[in-house]
Amino acid sequence: MSGGAVVVDRVTATVAGLRPPGTGVSLFAVEDSSVQVMADALAQGPVRLSAGDAEVVVDHPGGPGAWVLAGLPADTDLDVVVESEGAPPQHLAARTLAPPPGPELFRLATVNDIHLGDPRFGHLPTVAHPGDGGEPPPQRCLRAAVSEAAAWGAELLLAKGDITDHGSPDEWATAAEVLSGPGLPVEAILGNHDVCRGASDGRAILAAAGIELHAPRPHARDLPGVRLVTADTTVAERNRGTIAASTTEVARLVADADGPALVAIHHHPQRHRLMTHPPRGIPGAEAMAFLDAVAAANPATLVITGHSHRHRRHRWGPITVAEVGSPQDYPGTWAGYVVHEGGIRQVVRRVAEPRAIAWTESTKTCFLGLWGRWGPGSVDQRCFSLRWPSR
Ligand SMILES: [Fe+2]
Ligand SMILES: [Fe+2]
Repeated sequence: MSGGAVVVDRVTATVAGLRPPGTGVSLFAVEDSSVQVMADALAQGPVRLSAGDAEVVVDHPGGPGAWVLAGLPADTDLDVVVESEGAPPQHLAARTLAPPPGPELFRLATVNDIHLGDPRFGHLPTVAHPGDGGEPPPQRCLRAAVSEAAAWGAELLLAKGDITDHGSPDEWATAAEVLSGPGLPVEAILGNHDVCRGASDGRAILAAAGIELHAPRPHARDLPGVRLVTADTTVAERNRGTIAASTTEVARLVADADGPALVAIHHHPQRHRLMTHPPRGIPGAEAMAFLDAVAAANPATLVITGHSHRHRRHRWGPITVAEVGSPQDYPGTWAGYVVHEGGIRQVVRRVAEPRAIAWTESTKTCFLGLWGRWGPGSVDQRCFSLRWPSR
């Protein structure tokens, strides 16, 4: 570990996915007291991350990786230094988040678009599973994601759709086994792949593992500091989503909450009347009516979605809508939510288990290389701290 410093400017460091491959390390996640740094390729050997008095040294098997540096001060500009074998130290500018107001009350984690049973990923090129005799990548990535989410401190796990690729009994059985692995309470909602032609109803298989699948009616669960509302957006044997039939009930459930609400759905609400990019989500007209109704019913609401396999967030009046990607394709993620008395923060972490990240890194080249640029979004689209508006 020696050599001169290579300074990576803040913009380059924070727009993960817009860098050419092979240029080193970048910042993937920020929290109030930690950062996650990723590298697309580093040599085998120790990797040391440090910032101020905080440091961590990990034994890296070589190739891509992602590592967490904890013990950092909140709401602070930092110079994160990454040192590895045979490479000069690299410097990343990072700013930790300010935590939402008030004490922390609860943590939950989400996974979506797992596509258990999917035999490959993408097109141009299609990436085939490695023939290494291990678990298929979707299963491997989910197992690592839920384990890492549990280690982060999640007290509840939510699987928000496209849990399976074809809704087969085998896929549902795998979902039940892997999702229940950490021993956390688990809730689930459906995605379009779970209700595709020929799909079976996985409810009984999940229930046998203690997992509640909420469909087709919206469901509310009161957690410390927030009401979790889940809604089914699927249309049998169709890829597109719908929320019109559930809008009134979701609005009632968030209105009746004692405090703030977290609304989880599978399909992303399209932001315009006409679809601007694939895949088809909830059509714009009904999506806008839904968000208007939720915002009017309870402005202290965060809406979280999946389906697009990408990371974005936008404001809709007083509320925030966040799309989160998949654990099994680049960048390969799960999301954590930390509920405070006065707000909520989201962190999206890359699944870091070495064989999982080796797989997700390989999917970056799909769709003529665009997938590596389209999926990740920026750090501030993935990691943010919200203060609840007054109701
Ligand atoms: Fe999906
Ligand atoms: Fe989907």
